[in-house]
Amino acid sequence: MTHFPRIAGQLHAEQVSLATIGQLYGTPCYIYSRRAIESAWQELDQALEPHPHQICYAVKANSNLAVLNLMARMGSGFDVVSGGELQRVLAAGGDPAKVVFSGVGKTNSELELALSSGVGCINLESVTEIGRLEKIAGDLGVVAPVALRVNPDVDAQTHPYISTGLKENKFGVDINGAVKIYHRIAASKHLSAIGIDCHIGSQLTQLEPLVDAVERLLLVVDELAKQDITLDHIDVGGGLGIRYQDEQPPSMTDYANLLLKLFAGRTEHIYVEPGRSLVGNSGVLLTQVIGLKPGDEKNFALVDAAMNDLLRPTLYSAWHDIQPVSESTEHNRSWDVVGPICETGDFLGQNRQLGIAEDDLLAVMSCGAYGFTMASNYNSRPKAAEVMVDGNQHHLIRKREEISQLFADEYLLAD
Ligand code: LLP
Repeated sequence: MTHFPRIAGQLHAEQVSLATIGQLYGTPCYIYSRRAIESAWQELDQALEPHPHQICYAVKANSNLAVLNLMARMGSGFDVVSGGELQRVLAAGGDPAKVVFSGVGKTNSELELALSSGVGCINLESVTEIGRLEKIAGDLGVVAPVALRVNPDVDAQTHPYISTGLKENKFGVDINGAVKIYHRIAASKHLSAIGIDCHIGSQLTQLEPLVDAVERLLLVVDELAKQDITLDHIDVGGGLGIRYQDEQPPSMTDYANLLLKLFAGRTEHIYVEPGRSLVGNSGVLLTQVIGLKPGDEKNFALVDAAMNDLLRPTLYSAWHDIQPVSESTEHNRSWDVVGPICETGDFLGQNRQLGIAEDDLLAVMSCGAYGFTMASNYNSRPKAAEVMVDGNQHHLIRKREEISQLFADEYLLAD
């Protein structure tokens, strides 16, 4: 995480020390580096430069308006999966024409919102959705631009909960039936087939499954062309992994080069939907040690962030590095770093060799993706603050929730 350097023993985000941010904004607090986000996006954009392409940032990874606005300013498109994400993109100044609307269960009101906002493409995931969209587009008197999300039946070789491209998964339509469905779309005067789409899974550390999937998509596209259905773009989804511990994911440039190779000589635009690889290593979760509880079996470091702030360790057994903000040799031993929530699964890291004392600050690394967006209010805990660092400047981009906000919309029975 190059944009989170240790300077004179103190962990920083760009040029601002995390200790300063802790003092000013309190903990728990998500901290992002503007430079990290921008350089990841630009690296991908430049690497894909030789071929017409569109980056559709997967909003689910980190949907803070300031993050979306940075993406919009660089000219990014967006991949959204709900009406809520679409409205965030619009509020952040995103261009609706560069939005692809994905999702396995879009409601009629979401489809209506997508069409009335003028999104660039709706990724259809089932035959029933085609009928519903056709009717809504007819009622609105518009032609809906669509892509079919096909399920290429490849094993992404990632965690089963984030693997999406197997026949047994709920996503997309069977690739073997795709041509027939495109004819159904082509026959409709309210639908226009402009692309094809797939997404095989997330945190991919090998590219072979992606190659398999894209090759299968290209066969469908070529078959369609023979039958006079020509598409403008091929959306290969997101999924490029990042390094949390000792993974060796392909670099952004290797990933882009592979796509360029697969698309050599073709005219369709490449669409990509990266989330984690753009923001994952652009953020940390800052937390303070509440107390230490050494024991015979286990040593617990109780911290003020918990599974409601960062669910990944609990839900996927995900490993995030944990670093002390100031290096220390005090109480150096193996700690389980745990939150205050009443669940044994509430841990941020287990068996971590750390020198720590009460009140110390710890940084949970690689939390820029699927950190804040998966946070909840479990145990009536307010959501953390979010701060963006830009060089030597820091900006509050989401205020810490107040407890009173948590039940402001609840009602007592009258009698
Ligand atoms: N496009 C579609 C249709 C997706 O479903 C996803 C992620 C992406 C793009 C972006 O994938 P990425 O580039 O971020 O891998 N909460 C999990 C990850 C769930 C990913 C779901 N879909 C985690 O914390 O690891």
